[in-house]
Amino acid sequence: MKSVLDIKNLKVGFHSDEGFVQAVDGLDLQIGEGKTLGLVGESGCGKSVTSLSVMRLLPEKARISGEIGFLGEDLLQKDQKELERIRGDKISMIFQDPMTSLNPVLTIGEQIEEVIRYHQGGTKQEIRDRTLELMDLVKIPDSERRIREYPHQMSGGIRQRIMIAMAIACDPELLIADEPTTALDVTVQAQILALIRELQEKLNTAVLMISHDLGVISQVADDVAVMYAGQVVEWTTTEELFESPKHPYTQGLIRTIPRMDEQQGELEEIPGMVPELSQEFKGCRFYDRCPKAMKACKKADINLLDVEQSKVRCLLYSE
Ligand SMILES: Nc1ncnc2c1ncn2[C@@H]1O[C@H](COP(=O)(O)OP(=O)(O)OP(=O)(O)O)[C@@H](O)[C@H]1O
Ligand SMILES: [Mg+2]
Repeated sequence: MKSVLDIKNLKVGFHSDEGFVQAVDGLDLQIGEGKTLGLVGESGCGKSVTSLSVMRLLPEKARISGEIGFLGEDLLQKDQKELERIRGDKISMIFQDPMTSLNPVLTIGEQIEEVIRYHQGGTKQEIRDRTLELMDLVKIPDSERRIREYPHQMSGGIRQRIMIAMAIACDPELLIADEPTTALDVTVQAQILALIRELQEKLNTAVLMISHDLGVISQVADDVAVMYAGQVVEWTTTEELFESPKHPYTQGLIRTIPRMDEQQGELEEIPGMVPELSQEFKGCRFYDRCPKAMKACKKADINLLDVEQSKVRCLLYSE
């Protein structure tokens, strides 16, 4: 299968008051055509930095190396002009909070039309028709009226649908959704996830879905990459991840998901804290929190190992 996104050994760091922060440290990821990859992990593990690297939207001071292959070309080798052409045209992004991304003084119609005009052009009528078509595609009821309304007149769910309409306006090859439903209540969250899934199938777009919530990821992703402290610790199909989670961190994450189908006592939490990324690591980064830690885990860095269908960064699986 052709890969749309192929990240190799990505490293991203920042100089900060606490010293140098290695936010992403040797990340490998791939997304095949029309597939959804879920990227999951606790707050601060480097999910957003990864997605912003793909969009090349990191601050100037960020130190970035490795390879971000997109349809066979390395995005890290592109200049600003080429990137502008790619962003919003071939790669687009949905953020957590639509209110901060929408312009409060423009109508919904004006904002969607602007995106279409910039990337595709067309006559006034063609742009208007395409706008209404997109609003129908993301299932905004009563689009003829809504097109003249402002963001504050809408619920969070409708605003997120508008962001999705803008993101898919140009039929991107890759859609990045960073916590797209975190700000929404559970029912609306489920509707938005279903919509993303449906559009992804209809348009055959590759999707990078980011969330700290493995429950959310499991509803939409074909494959899942679990991140911990700037690295991928497990990467496999969603089915395999739930059937046979291998890394102790993944096993812990799965135990934190509430389940409807069985009696469950108190929800478990993974004890301990995410480590500071400004430190020099040696050995497994999950060591201090791992119930299965062995002495050897602290001795040397651990590579991603092939274990059955999964890739796992854990000494329990080495020969
Ligand atoms: N512009 C920046 N300058 C300095 N440090 C940064 C910058 N952006 C991110 N970081 C640091 O990089 C690390 C990873 O941050 P990132 O935003 O990717 O986490 P995340 O996994 O998206 O977390 P969350 O679930 O809270 O969104 C954090 O330690 C963060 O403080
Ligand atoms: Mg984030």
